[in-house]
Amino acid sequence: MDQNAMKQQVAERAAEYIEAYLEPDMIVGVGTGSTANLFIDCLAAHKHRFDGALASSEETRRRLEEHKIPVYDLNTVAKLPFYIDGADEVNPYLHLIKGGGGALTREKIIASVADTFICIVDESKCVDLLGHFPLPIEVIPMARSSVARALVELGGRPVYREGFVTDNGNIILDVHDLEILEPRLLESKINDLVGVVTCGLFAHRGADVLLVATPDGVQEVDASS
Ligand code: A5P
Repeated sequence: MDQNAMKQQVAERAAEYIEAYLEPDMIVGVGTGSTANLFIDCLAAHKHRFDGALASSEETRRRLEEHKIPVYDLNTVAKLPFYIDGADEVNPYLHLIKGGGGALTREKIIASVADTFICIVDESKCVDLLGHFPLPIEVIPMARSSVARALVELGGRPVYREGFVTDNGNIILDVHDLEILEPRLLESKINDLVGVVTCGLFAHRGADVLLVATPDGVQEVDASS
C-alpha cells in the first residue's frame, strides 16, 4: 500500500471516529496538509449533520468552502469538541512537529481550544526522537536574523524558507540538525525568543488520540495509554 492510500485510509478512519459525536450545532476544527485535505473530503459526506468548521489555514478554508461547509471565525466559537490534523513527525508521547505546510500558528491556536486533538498520519511520520524533520518556526519578518542567531545558539541550523509568507504575513525558519530530547523545554525556549510567533513543536499541547495508517490497517494510540 502506498503512502497516499494510507493517508486516505486514516482520513476515512478519522471521519468514522467523530461521526458518532456529530451534532447539528457542532463546529469541527480542521488542520492543513494533504492528509487533512483527504479528511475534509470524507467529512463532507456528513456535512448536514454538523454546523460548520474552523479552518487552520486559507488553503483549508478554500477546500471546506468548495464542499459548501460553512467556515467560522474562532472568535465566534465557544466550544470545539474535535480538532483533526496531520503532522510531520510524532513521537511515542504524541508530541508533534508540525508546520511543514507553514500553518503552524493557526494550527496551534485551534489545537489549544479543542477538547480532543486527533492526529492523523501514515506510519512514516512516527519516530522515537523528534527533530529529523526540520522544525518550522514562524517569525516576525524584522526579527529573522536575530531569531536565526538565537536558534544557532540553541544548537540548530535555521534555514529561511525562501519565497514563503504565512497566512499571518510572517516568515518561516526551518531548523535542521536538532535532536529534540526534551520537547516541552525546547518548545518553551523557542517560544520565548523575541520575534518568534510560535514554533512547530506541539509538546505542551500534543495530540490526545493518534490514528496511524499502516499496511495492516489503522492503529489507534491514546495519549492516556
Ligand atoms: C501544515 O502546516 C502541517 O502542520 C501539516 O499538518 C503537516 O505538514 C502534515 O502534512 P501532510 O499531511 O501533507 O503530510
